Amino acid sequence: MRIFSGIQPTGQMHIGNYLGATRNWVNLQNEHSCLYTVVDLHALTTLQNPKELHDASFEKVVELLAIGLDTERCALFIQSHVKEHTELAWIFNTLTPVAELERMTQFKDKSKKNKKNINAGLLTYPVLMAADILLYQPDKIPVGKDQVQHLELTRMIARKFNQQFGHTFKEPEVLLIEEAAKIMSLEDPKKKMSKSDGPAAYISLFEEPEAIRKKVSRATTDTGKEIRFNPAKKPGISNLITIYSLFAEESVHDVEKKFADKGYAAFKKATAELLIEKLEPFRQKKQELFKRELYIQEILKQGAKRARSIAETTMQDVRSKIGLLLPN
Ligand code: AMP
Ligand code: TRP
Repeated sequence: MRIFSGIQPTGQMHIGNYLGATRNWVNLQNEHSCLYTVVDLHALTTLQNPKELHDASFEKVVELLAIGLDTERCALFIQSHVKEHTELAWIFNTLTPVAELERMTQFKDKSKKNKKNINAGLLTYPVLMAADILLYQPDKIPVGKDQVQHLELTRMIARKFNQQFGHTFKEPEVLLIEEAAKIMSLEDPKKKMSKSDGPAAYISLFEEPEAIRKKVSRATTDTGKEIRFNPAKKPGISNLITIYSLFAEESVHDVEKKFADKGYAAFKKATAELLIEKLEPFRQKKQELFKRELYIQEILKQGAKRARSIAETTMQDVRSKIGLLLPN
């Protein structure tokens, strides 16, 4: 089976979106043929500082490798390195009704949040995403539920193209990444962990041990002292139990049993030490990879080469089907 997915370069990886998303990318590469891309062109739909965008793309690649993507088993590339993405997006633009784009939830949300920058790219964002995907004829697309609507549009574009020009694209299916569990904010455990709530609310996947100790020990907990999983009544402790259980790969019940007579302080300490143990290899790998710029460049070169070889074949077919005069 061929798998394709993309991630934005900007935005910190924290334990929430790791457990909810990128961990799955790592698992999938063992059994399937996977292509993963850092979508720098998509990031341009919101205002970016050029230097920061440049550095974030490199850093995201480093981070994906640090958490275990293995380029012997998957292709990892930067979206803008394969020109066919923008070419196919243009062609798809001419097939996509504006009304379909205007009803996309993400477009509505983002234009509401940022009224000063409702650019055409924000509207056609899902068309570029459809091009990303369909270029590679993948079977499944692992994404979170916020992207399902975009996947439906992708399938609609594939169908429309096929009807108009003859069968060209496979209609890919969503591989819905169910959040292993929703990881909540350390400060306000009634809210989802998100980097926008400030550093005390989340633990980065590459956090320093001392910072992990501090953040976990300061995490909001509930009254009482029992280590009991009850998200409604004890959201703080329940969140820590979830985190512990996922990283230790032990059931919630086993975690409750293990800490039955231990009290909050001891449980928090154990959670911090577990996180340090599990995250330390990621942090070290990231530091090490950061220094190997040439190696990363080579990985990206190979990744783009592999991606391009598939994308070029698709595009030749597309150009000829839609009636472009081909160069000699
Ligand atoms: P984001 O980094 O917010 O763009 O989210 C990327 C993916 O990670 C989403 O599709 C979610 O499924 C997942 N995710 C983000 N935050 C969390 C969280 N706090 N807990 C669990 N999964 C999350
Ligand atoms: N839109 C996706 C997100 O915000 C990122 C993305 C771009 C993507 N192109 C893709 C995901 C192709 C899967 C496949 O998360």
